[in-house]
Amino acid sequence: MGLVGGGQGSFIGRVHVTAAVLDNRATLVAGALSSDAARSKASAADYDIDPSRAYGTYAEMFAAERALPADKRIDFVSIVTPNHMHFPVAKAAVEAGFNVVCDKPLTLTLQEAEDLASIVKKSSTVFAVTHNYTGYPLVRQAREMALGGELGDIQAIRATYIQGWLRTRLESEGHKQAAWRTDPKKSGAAGAFGDIGTHAYNLGRFMTGLLPEKVSAHLKVFEPPRSLDDYGHAVIQYENGALGTVTASQISHGHENDLRIEIDGTLASLEWHQENPNQLFVRKNGHPHAIYTRDPNASFMNASGKAACRLPAGHPEAFFEAFANVYCAAFDAMEPAIAGESFERTNTLYPNICDGVEGMYFIEQSVASSRVDGAWLPLRHSLARR
Ligand SMILES: NC(=O)c1ccc[n+]([C@@H]2O[C@H](COP(=O)([O-])OP(=O)(O)OC[C@H]3O[C@@H](n4cnc5c(N)ncnc54)[C@H](O)[C@@H]3O)[C@@H](O)[C@H]2O)c1
Repeated sequence: MGLVGGGQGSFIGRVHVTAAVLDNRATLVAGALSSDAARSKASAADYDIDPSRAYGTYAEMFAAERALPADKRIDFVSIVTPNHMHFPVAKAAVEAGFNVVCDKPLTLTLQEAEDLASIVKKSSTVFAVTHNYTGYPLVRQAREMALGGELGDIQAIRATYIQGWLRTRLESEGHKQAAWRTDPKKSGAAGAFGDIGTHAYNLGRFMTGLLPEKVSAHLKVFEPPRSLDDYGHAVIQYENGALGTVTASQISHGHENDLRIEIDGTLASLEWHQENPNQLFVRKNGHPHAIYTRDPNASFMNASGKAACRLPAGHPEAFFEAFANVYCAAFDAMEPAIAGESFERTNTLYPNICDGVEGMYFIEQSVASSRVDGAWLPLRHSLARR
């Protein structure tokens, strides 16, 4: 594993590394960890990366690793930089023949995402996007229930991702993560909608498989002169007539990572909260409300839910384990890919390049809709998968 980003003072890089090594299927051996070469090399010791493989830049890392014998070089690259650096790093990695795990949103613009998808399509590399909420056991349980018809026809999806940390203008107080997330040149066309709204949208798509038709959105900036949305709603119409809503906020006092999703079917409804991820609520009129707990040995758990568990019931699994499940699914494809064998590229359990493109389409169409007072715009991208 080679890491790009994740240097001192950063957030998600450490989570990627912890998740990638959790099941002893990977080891971090190389890194270009910061935009600053000296900091990049200095950060390597924090990960026990040998100084000989602590690189100043990602280009240096790809060239040096490429020059090593195949069994000595890195097999994949994890990209955990701010959004504007995803495309150049991912393109260079795929062109150098490395598999990629890239954080979301896929790129800065939809055009970059589409360009990247065609580069990946021509390559023989695996490309995963860390919509990590898809890795929770009870999310996978719910998905199998929804796809298997246990909810009946799905008619509504309500996904909300609510935070409060940008209630004040942290970006003007030297807060690094706030600074790039509120800068259109580094974050992209959207703020909260790109940062967390894409997760909520992706979760609804993952759990139901419903294909979107069109979107109507209203995005707002409530902390001017910030230029990117810190609050917004989107209404999504799906191909079967179902209605979805995505709400993303970063200005709601007291909310931390309050991601929730509710799905209403003709036979039952489901509810899952990221901050209480080991419980899934299932409701049917006239029946007592059911709480499914994450239990790999319980008869009510389906194969997808069980396969995503590591611990017995009652020992909470959460963010790291779910992240690791996304890595595991990507490794299942990388292992044959590295051996030169065929591997599943389309119908993957891990979010793939097409899901990444779809996330970018969701962002750009939501921003465009909001600019014309919530006009309905198409949301079915040609790469969208069922
Ligand atoms: N999936 C999730 O749950 C989740 C959570 C947080 C962040 N993210 C995503 O992860 C990415 C990083 O977010 P973060 O909060 O960790 O950011 P961060 O600002 O904490 O860290 C970014 C790191 O990238 C480094 N970097 C910047 N340019 C670089 C370059 N050219 N070469 C090498 N390193 C470079 C920075 O020096 C820093 O170490 C973003 O795309 C964000 O959207 C995803």
